Amino acid sequence: MAGNDKLLGFVREVSALCASGRDEAATLASASELMRALVARDDWLPDAFAVPHPVYYQQHLLFGDPAERFSLVSFVWGPGQKTPVHDHTVWGVIGVLRGAELSQAYARAGAGYAPSGEAHRLEPGQVECVSPAIGDVHRVANAYDDRVSVSIHLYGGNIGRIRRHVFDPETGAAKDFVSGYSNAAVPNLWAAAG
Ligand code: FE2
Repeated sequence: MAGNDKLLGFVREVSALCASGRDEAATLASASELMRALVARDDWLPDAFAVPHPVYYQQHLLFGDPAERFSLVSFVWGPGQKTPVHDHTVWGVIGVLRGAELSQAYARAGAGYAPSGEAHRLEPGQVECVSPAIGDVHRVANAYDDRVSVSIHLYGGNIGRIRRHVFDPETGAAKDFVSGYSNAAVPNLWAAAG
């Protein structure tokens, strides 16, 4: 299948899923299956959406639903790059396409936040979920300090425009942030690829 056909097919399936009115648990289950299929083969992401930045991890918007029901983002991690402890406020499904990602969940501990359970190492093809209902606070890092990793993130909202939070785990202090997107142009899903 041509690259853009794979991306277009995924967006169509997620759009139909969002229109189906399923509850969050059923949506996450179906979206996880779709994500597993999307990241099963690393043969479709246009090179422009896999370019790292020397300092900052990149969040390239691949598709933004005009009704803001969902957004699809390519996260590009330079060597050793990581997020602060943060939340999302909407459901999310993360699939690793290239390299590997470390995800550490955090939970309230006294006034602050402490790691909850072991860090997960996600290899290519593996998927995990976040949401306020199942655990929404984590810190994510490139598992490698000598190479780029790429993960594909699907969120149940327009993640680049949502006001959410980064946390100081020591004090629990929350700071509002809006991540935005790194790219100025999105892929043409209708281009003939290959
Ligand atoms: Fe996250």
